[in-house]
Amino acid sequence: MSSEDPREKIKGTPRHFRTHRELHDGREPFFPNFLLKEWIVGAMFIVGFLIWVLLNHVGLSAQANPNDSSYIPVPDWYFLFLYQALKYYPGSGIVFGAFLVPVIITLLLIFLPWIDWSKSRRPFKRPLATGSMVIAIVMMSWLTAEAWAQHQEEMSASSGGSSSSGLPFQVQHPTSTALMSTSMPGYKLFENTCGACHGSNLEGAFGPELRGIGNVASSSQLLPVIQKGFPPNMPPGGGLTNTSQLQQIADWLAAQKQK
Ligand code: HEC
Repeated sequence: MSSEDPREKIKGTPRHFRTHRELHDGREPFFPNFLLKEWIVGAMFIVGFLIWVLLNHVGLSAQANPNDSSYIPVPDWYFLFLYQALKYYPGSGIVFGAFLVPVIITLLLIFLPWIDWSKSRRPFKRPLATGSMVIAIVMMSWLTAEAWAQHQEEMSASSGGSSSSGLPFQVQHPTSTALMSTSMPGYKLFENTCGACHGSNLEGAFGPELRGIGNVASSSQLLPVIQKGFPPNMPPGGGLTNTSQLQQIADWLAAQKQK
């Protein structure tokens, strides 16, 4: 029971359930050697991903608004290719696409060890496995890009058609007119910088009404729009250049959720 091949063992690995052949043909035991490597890579990925998420704050988008009939729902980016694939099944063929195809692919993956017997690890010596993977990656990328392009098209078609104004945020002219959160610092700044055009009660004047804008826009969506402005009708930042003040205004506007 001596095995000198350093590739073969992790010190202390129980080897009693391996056969003589397995110990001497240079193969690596699946448990624990192979799995341990997979787990290490998996753990590094998860920790790296957690750090990345912690360092990249992603703001919430606009609150869901049941009155907004122009809203086009779309899945998250990593599901876009599946969403797109379903578009190609005609009519009731969707049953095939939504149920049978995923089941077949899952079964293929489960039975892969019995289907693919090749011992070689070199990609070029395994044309079937390598080919399937390349095709899958190409298809997923293409479907994702296609889904995104079609979504953008639908969005611009719907905003060009149903709404006349072309403004980024469609406020719903709420019945309640009271200002909200007037103790926030953004309120005073708004009154001084933006009030002349949008009305100090958000009622609109030269610029559009902004009551209820918090129902359709978050502060992280508002800030870039305000910073860019709408030259020549609205100067960038409404004439204000201080980013932290603009942020305060955006925060205050996002709190205007009049119904
Ligand atoms: C000189 C007048 C003027 C000032 C000052 C001004 N705006 Fe505007 N604003 C407008 C006009 C006009 C529009 C509409 C633009 C268009 O139709 O092209 C607009 C549009 C907007 C919109 C988009 C509304 C929507 O429904 O999509 C927001 C948000 C906005 N302004 C916020 C602000 C903020 C915040 C300030 C102050 C920092 C400000 N504006 C200052 C004139 C002004």
